[in-house]
Amino acid sequence: MLKTKFIWLNEKFIPWEKATLHLLTHSLHYGSAVFEGIRFYETEKGPAVFRLVEHLNRLFLSAKTMEMKIPYSRNQLSKAILELIKKNNLKSGYLRPIIFYGQKMGLDPRGADLNTAIACWEWGRYLEKEIVKVKISKFQRISSMSSEMKAKISGHYFNSILASLEAKKDGFDEALLLDYQGNIAEGPGENIFFVKKKILYTPKHGTILPGITRDSVIKIAKNLGYKIIEKDIKPKEIKNFDEAFFTGTAVEITAIGQIDKLKISQGKEGEITKKLKEKYHKITEAEEKKYQKWLSYV
Ligand SMILES: Cc1ncc(COP(=O)(O)O)c(C=O)c1O
Repeated sequence: MLKTKFIWLNEKFIPWEKATLHLLTHSLHYGSAVFEGIRFYETEKGPAVFRLVEHLNRLFLSAKTMEMKIPYSRNQLSKAILELIKKNNLKSGYLRPIIFYGQKMGLDPRGADLNTAIACWEWGRYLEKEIVKVKISKFQRISSMSSEMKAKISGHYFNSILASLEAKKDGFDEALLLDYQGNIAEGPGENIFFVKKKILYTPKHGTILPGITRDSVIKIAKNLGYKIIEKDIKPKEIKNFDEAFFTGTAVEITAIGQIDKLKISQGKEGEITKKLKEKYHKITEAEEKKYQKWLSYV
């Protein structure tokens, strides 16, 4: 991660080195923070943030779930984000807004200061390889009976971290988690799609974080004339699919070449995956008029 000059903290631009916290920060101990991961891309008209409105909407939904009252409006945070990119003089990169409680011990967060911070940095490829090998995790995805799955809550990520560590220890690039009913849910930080005969299949809402990239891919694919089916998918069905790929802000669209021992698309990037990926990149780089509404320029 490359250090930048400024971090935005409670309305002030502070130097990167000064963005430190007390050891007894509530959110550090209990995972009581909500956050977003957003990318911005280089375009001919300068840096543009991809689907900023939708990311801020999700941040406010996550905060509401945790009964946090963000003391800023969406408009204020949007302005802060664009200004932060400008002040850090970045062309493209990743943004991390986070709402977290300050110093307080004991689970009840009430009474602790609520902080709002935004960091940004340059961030290239999230998964090292272009085509990834995936391991079905022994850890089950937390379910909608344990939390609000539409919210991006820091505490949820213990589950993702355990699955990632397990997959990497076993020589895979990424994990795939099943839900409590044995259906395919998602990766530790990605949604998953399968392709068969020009139809896209993806796990329905329930135990997944409904990704903004997932939503973008569904809309792009529909516009390209593909059919999308959101349904329960069991691991035994994987062998019937022609292609598979992950979607997420960090991974964008990443082809899956293997799940456990099973090769998919002969370990290569599938044709439809490639087509969607190319379109996605054109959109984020503002080369597609139709999707201009997804970009917020700095
Ligand atoms: C668990 C999980 N699923 C899916 C995603 C993909 O979501 P998005 O496309 O909004 O980045 C993420 C990343 O935020 C995630 O952490």
